Amino acid sequence: MGATRPPVLVTRRLPAEALDRIEAQCDMTLYDGEGAMSRDRLLTEVAGKLGAITLLTDRVDDEFLDAAGPQLRIVANYAVGFDNIDVDACTRHGVLASNTPEVLTETTADIAFALMMAAARRIAEGDRFLRSRTPWIWAPLMMLGQDVHHKTLGVVGFGRIGKALARRARGFAMRVLYHDVYRPPGGLDQELEAEYRDLEDLLRESDFVSLHTNLTPQTRHLINAERLAIMKPTAVLVNTSRGPVIDEQALARALKEGQIFAAGLDVFEREPDVHPDLLTCENAVLIPHLGSATVETRLAMANLAVDNLFAGLQDGRPPTLLNPEVWEQRVSRG
Ligand code: DGY
Repeated sequence: MGATRPPVLVTRRLPAEALDRIEAQCDMTLYDGEGAMSRDRLLTEVAGKLGAITLLTDRVDDEFLDAAGPQLRIVANYAVGFDNIDVDACTRHGVLASNTPEVLTETTADIAFALMMAAARRIAEGDRFLRSRTPWIWAPLMMLGQDVHHKTLGVVGFGRIGKALARRARGFAMRVLYHDVYRPPGGLDQELEAEYRDLEDLLRESDFVSLHTNLTPQTRHLINAERLAIMKPTAVLVNTSRGPVIDEQALARALKEGQIFAAGLDVFEREPDVHPDLLTCENAVLIPHLGSATVETRLAMANLAVDNLFAGLQDGRPPTLLNPEVWEQRVSRG
């Protein structure tokens, strides 16, 4: 990395192996406090840095980039989702931006499937019930759920994670429908035998709906009261993408009124807060943004973020770059 050790900011503790790699090459400022860095602290600490590893809880925008200064070369986000990063602002400032795709695909698909199962088969509710020490005896009508196998799964956002979920569903003999901004000719995904549907048709026909879209102005509140109303009363809704894709107030109402059967949520509209009405829905399985949270995957994400950081500091092309035009400009300038 050259004779001098480039100053870099890491905004939260990462797996030790990745931090060791950074420390061996860079002058690392690591925020090790509880929770996310305050905005003021983030803007202060990033000043003068050549690189930063950021989290989905850090907003990277013009203010951040101005506070960092013109020497900043790369912002390596430790997440596949990058709605916290204003990529156009990074490009305007000549700063490379990267994310961590691929390495978390299978792990996130696993948790989406786990949420489908848990919500349909009332796993969390059953666990809470036993812990309440309520007297019980096996009964034919006790805590009945919905079958998963041989049902119809609707995947909204048919990218890497959506397809990985569809692959799992095939193992459960499920029929798979999908909706995406990209509709292939003929609408059939040959590999997964998944059929394209308009969003409304997908919501009407599916027993399970799993959300895998990016968060953009177009996908904010994509699932709202009107769309919940057209889902089946037996349907299960799963979200492992970003919280604001669902109108939580409308979802809580739909769950309480039995408009849909259940929901499994890994992400929340005002994270880390969970809508108080969801907390009182027995038919909502709620987990704290654990989609990629396994030992192996969090390490793989950290190593990819560090690879991106090092490439950006050394004038290489970061492996998972979001704004290639910045790198091309650098190369053409020589
Ligand atoms: C991401 O990477 O975007 C997830 O939400 C956290 O792993």
